[in-house]
Order: sequence, then C-alpha cells, then structure tokens
Amino acid sequence: MGTVRSDIREEPSLRPTPREASPRRYLMCPPTHFSVTYSINPWMDPTKPVDLPLALAQWEDLRDRYRSLGHTVELLDPRPGLPDMVFAANGATVVGGRVLGARFAHPERTDEAAAHREWFRGNGYPDLRVPEHVNEGEGDFAVTSSWLLAGRGFRSSTLAHDEAQEFFGRPVIGLDLLDPRYYHLDTALCVLDDARDEVMYYPGAFSPGSRRVLARLFPDALLATERDAGALGLNAVSDGLHVLLPQAAVGLFDPLRDRGFEPMGMDLSELLKGGGSVKCCTQELRTA
Ligand code: ARG
Repeated sequence: MGTVRSDIREEPSLRPTPREASPRRYLMCPPTHFSVTYSINPWMDPTKPVDLPLALAQWEDLRDRYRSLGHTVELLDPRPGLPDMVFAANGATVVGGRVLGARFAHPERTDEAAAHREWFRGNGYPDLRVPEHVNEGEGDFAVTSSWLLAGRGFRSSTLAHDEAQEFFGRPVIGLDLLDPRYYHLDTALCVLDDARDEVMYYPGAFSPGSRRVLARLFPDALLATERDAGALGLNAVSDGLHVLLPQAAVGLFDPLRDRGFEPMGMDLSELLKGGGSVKCCTQELRTA
C-alpha cells in the first residue's frame, strides 16, 4: 500500500544476458624486482616510494583469485634489472596457440621480450614469431572472436598492426590513442565477452575517428566515465562471467552487474605506481 516495489523495473527486456565463465590459461610474472626507477608513462613517479612486500601480496591475491575461479596460472621467472616485468601482458600476444613476440618501444624494457620468448620456447609453443616492428603485446592488442583490436599512438606501431594481421589471419582494427594516461589500449578498453564481441571502453582516450569506429563495431558497449577510467578500471580481465578490475573503479560495478557479469574488485595500488593493474599483469594464452 503506497510502497514502491523494487522489482518494478524487472521487465523481460532488462533481464541481463546469461553469462558463463570459460576456463582460461594465464601467464604472470611475480613483482619480485618491481620498482619505479624510470618514467615512461605519466603514472610513474620515481620519487614516490613503492611498498614491495605489499606489491607482492596484492599480486599474489590476483594470482590466487584466478586459481580459485578454476583458471590455470603459469609463471614466468622474474629477472633483476627488469622492474616492469610484472606487467606480463606486454611480453607477447597468443591467439590459437600462435605467439607473436613483443618488441618494446623503450630501451628500459627491451630485454623482457627475450625472457618471454624463452618461456614460450620451453613450454611447447613452436609457432613463435620474433616481430619486426614495435608491439607491446596485449598492452595494445585485444582479441575478440571477430577482430584483433590494436592500439597505436604511444607504443605499438601501425606496421606492427599489419604484421599481426598477417601472422594471425584476423582482421586488425587500428585504434588511435590520444591521451598519454591511456598509453596502451588495455588502459582504455577491455574485452568483456570475447565470443560475443562485447567490450567496455573510455571514449575520451581515442581519436574522434576511432570513437566512431568503436561506436560502429560495438553499439552496445559499456562506456566508462573519466573517473572510472582514471582509476584504471578498464585494465580488467573477464572470463566471460567474472570481471576482475581495480576496486577503485566503483562506477563500473553496477553497469557490469546489469549486464550479467560478476565484478570482482582487486587492490593493486602498488602496481598502479608503474601504470598498470589487473590486465597488465595478465597475459592470456589462447588456444583458440
Ligand atoms: N610501466 C609499464 C610501461 O609503461 C607499465 C605497463 C603496463 N602494462 C599494460 N599492459 N598496460 O610500459
């Protein structure tokens, strides 16, 4: 009597899509030697101290969360002198078991590429290409069932986009990044459901033309606000149901739930000082 029913908006058209998680294989590298000694993106301030034990504990939480969700986590040995190696997503791109190695834009990270290649050589990936052009792995390549979305502007080159298209035989969609805070594609866009070509992104990170491309390919995409993008909320990993994302991106949780996903907030505050979060720490080893 006079009370507002909270289920009033549960019309059939608003019912979220049923979601299903699929088991994944990830490659991660512990932040044993993590530090911020140089600055190659606006998040990195070498004068700010990093709490290494906390960085390790936060990273272990992420690794354990993946495992508790039934995913496999492979480990890459960290190397001294490579403080950004924890950002394992940048070391290669794997689609259908084929590996396109990385070639880093900055000399500080050059040697990470070989560490990744050695891991793949020792772990049964014969189909490995040493790239000719600068590409920072999954930092700039995002995979959906139809496309390879490819960022450029700060790190990966357009020539690397062509190289990836030829190597994987997937149409590459080049996307221009404009804002230095979103220097890699995976800081501005996240694939939520690879099978259904569903993504979330922050339009403000892209050029006007790339925004129009994204709107055309993904008319129903979840659009992040500047606030959530600024908490690196798009640097997230989805298994088709669970979406692991920085916990500070509070505005993304309800829209994700409305779409049937289960958002899981992670605290990676120490790694944020290097300019990375959940996705940067996670390279996906795709068999398909
Ligand atoms: N400090 C690293 C860099 O600037 C962070 C890399 C983050 N990784 C990522 N996939 N966005 O290269």
